[in-house]
Amino acid sequence: MAVKQILTEPNKFLRQISKPVEKVGDEERKLMDDMLDTMYAAPGIGLAAIQIGIPKRIIVMDISRDENKKEPLYFVNPVIKNKNENKSRYEEGCLSVPDQFAEIERPKTCEVEYLDYYGKKQILKAEGLLATCIQHEIDHLEGILFIDYLSKLKKSMIIKKLSKFKSKRIIV
Ligand code: NI
Repeated sequence: MAVKQILTEPNKFLRQISKPVEKVGDEERKLMDDMLDTMYAAPGIGLAAIQIGIPKRIIVMDISRDENKKEPLYFVNPVIKNKNENKSRYEEGCLSVPDQFAEIERPKTCEVEYLDYYGKKQILKAEGLLATCIQHEIDHLEGILFIDYLSKLKKSMIIKKLSKFKSKRIIV
């Protein structure tokens, strides 16, 4: 298990479309373990493989926000079905868009078909924070970030801020 570096916007890698996983094997499980470590260390409640530079359709999440009672979720090749017409709004952030937050509207509930940690097919009915989080993460697999839902002006302001921050950053 290892903590990996999280890519941040602007970064072309984050905009690429991730590829489906053919089989959930040891390599994929190792990746999911590393992703979970990386997510907990950040700390965050969701992470897509592309955020650590691996273009595979894999997501990890834990929305329990309880140090003592971890409830990790693993989604391989997740597909959203039956989006609700009702919307909910959450103030979203993203480990790849550090220190930026914005209220985003998304379907309130959805069903997700996916393979679990052992490659078994599962269906999850999600609502509230879980539904929002899974939709945010699946967006990552399509190269979409939450700032893409904002106005052009707001989005470019955020990207400008992030670029400035990046240019000042030194790693020694
Ligand atoms: Ni994100």
